Amino acid sequence: MGRPQKKKRKPKSKLTAATADRHVLYGLSVQNVEAEIDFVDETFKHLRGRDAKSLREDFCGTANSAAEWVKRREDNLAIGVDLDTETLEWARAHTLPALAEEQQARVTLLERDVRDPGPEGIGCDIVLAMNFSYWLLNKRDDLVAYFRSVRESLGPDGLFFLDHYGGSDALTETTEDRELDGFTYVWDQDKYDPISGMMTAYIHFKFPDGTKMKKAFAYHWRHYTLPEVQDCLRDAGFAKVTVYWEGEDDDGEGDGVFSPAEEGDADPAFITYIVAQP
Ligand SMILES: C[S@@+](CC[C@H](N)C(=O)[O-])C[C@H]1O[C@@H](n2cnc3c(N)ncnc32)[C@H](O)[C@@H]1O
Repeated sequence: MGRPQKKKRKPKSKLTAATADRHVLYGLSVQNVEAEIDFVDETFKHLRGRDAKSLREDFCGTANSAAEWVKRREDNLAIGVDLDTETLEWARAHTLPALAEEQQARVTLLERDVRDPGPEGIGCDIVLAMNFSYWLLNKRDDLVAYFRSVRESLGPDGLFFLDHYGGSDALTETTEDRELDGFTYVWDQDKYDPISGMMTAYIHFKFPDGTKMKKAFAYHWRHYTLPEVQDCLRDAGFAKVTVYWEGEDDDGEGDGVFSPAEEGDADPAFITYIVAQP
């Protein structure tokens, strides 16, 4: 087992390491922004009794969630925040042009630290920190400072959404190959230090012609446990922190339906959502 995945989608053509784009493969392997935005949109409406309008995607990378958000309603606004110039340039060259022009006009990409998103990042209904990216803030004080800045920057009835990957598999040194259509996704938990919680993980891609894209993505981050994340959110002043646990289908597999829970199961690998209310 390894990092659990939310969905598989199909690439259109035959791929090799020489021709494939690592950002496209990442989106196909790791992300499921449609399901993520379904959850965020429905949960906000349920908790706040209205549709959310503005969404800030922290650690946005290629800004796929921001793009999905502006597709949902014609007055939705999205802001993406990321430090990495190359990834934001990719988003400007690929993610945004895939949107209609009027949708593109409702996305703002900011090359900034998520802890200091600037005036454009203030007052949003929703802030997202997905794909465990907040683990990159590997000092607890830095994580709490980030959570505090999110709380202070949210709109009056805003909500903060995070995801979390936990279970015993998350803390082991292991590799998982997963066959997708046209390539193999490899999640490599290369090194885990139980004293600091620091983990080094890679994503590699393998192709039918035998070529490989090794270390297409590298993560050196701290695995925070689910209780630690909730404690940090409370320390940052969030008044209510709720874990949403995934239900099971008849075969005992995750059914994609996440509900508020106070107790979970000792699954070896699970993804949860966390919703924090100021
Ligand atoms: C694991 S990737 C996640 C990308 C995207 N959010 C996703 O879900 O696929 C982490 C991203 O966070 C960005 N990043 C790391 N530290 C950051 C910081 N302090 N402020 C803003 N972005 C940061 C990196 O440049 C990278 O694009």
